[in-house]
Amino acid sequence: MNEIWIQSTGGALGADVHGVDLSQPVSDAVRDRIRQAWAEHLVLRFSGQKLDDHMLMRFTRHLGELDRVPIAAVGFERTRSGIEKDAEPWVAVISSVVKDGKPVGGLGSYELVWHTDMSYNDLPPRASLLYALQVPPAGGDTGFLNMYAAYDTLAPELKRAIDGRTCIHDSSRNSAGELRKGFQRTLDVRHTPGAVHPLVRLHPLTKRKALFLGRRPGAYIHGLSVEDSEKLLDAIWAHATQPRFTWYQKWRVGDLVMWDNRCVMHRRDAFDETLDRLMHRTQIVGEPVLAG
Ligand code: SIN
Repeated sequence: MNEIWIQSTGGALGADVHGVDLSQPVSDAVRDRIRQAWAEHLVLRFSGQKLDDHMLMRFTRHLGELDRVPIAAVGFERTRSGIEKDAEPWVAVISSVVKDGKPVGGLGSYELVWHTDMSYNDLPPRASLLYALQVPPAGGDTGFLNMYAAYDTLAPELKRAIDGRTCIHDSSRNSAGELRKGFQRTLDVRHTPGAVHPLVRLHPLTKRKALFLGRRPGAYIHGLSVEDSEKLLDAIWAHATQPRFTWYQKWRVGDLVMWDNRCVMHRRDAFDETLDRLMHRTQIVGEPVLAG
């Protein structure tokens, strides 16, 4: 086995993995060590990597089945120069770079709100892997949120209020608030399109309970009036998004960060739109969401 070692960030979640070169195939033993560290730390960072899309896809496939990229925003037409044809269904390009007047990828330089990737699907991806090819000198940090800790520390009355309840995860807008292709604006949250999931989720491997919120815009808790749903969601979100549950990744070129989408939410700081940031992301197919 390679010399692999794990170093916690010391924050609410996250660890660095040292001694692994992901441009080479990793053995099953190393993969299992990575999985073990991942279950413990929820977010793993591999720094100093030099990966093309096929290497990124190979590593992702070694951890699980590759999931398809999300639906693009309305009016989004990417230049073809960003990515190889056979990687297109599997590698999402997240970028502020513009070539020949067209963006290379989605989500630009905007702030992204706290969210779980693609939780508007019935089977949201188990994980996402984000690889940095170009980063701005400042801004564009990605925050991660430990949803086990958010659940564990929730006030008993809030735990009782959400026990057994489900929530709609909006599929109409991306995490930058842009409308996706094929969707209309929804004014009444009771009619938000998307998947319905339990507010408390049981992680299939760790058997721990995590808050499962998806994203705040468009959310609605079934069985409540809109007013009561808004109040309860506001209270849960105010608790869950406290800085004590977070850790922020400051990107360097060659960082690969993977997170467990079942017990982690993430967001991104905005950055200067004239600066180039280019990231490639793969996703791992998830399993049915278990109620906690
Ligand atoms: C994402 O939401 O997956 C993108 C995060 C980022 O651009 O840092």
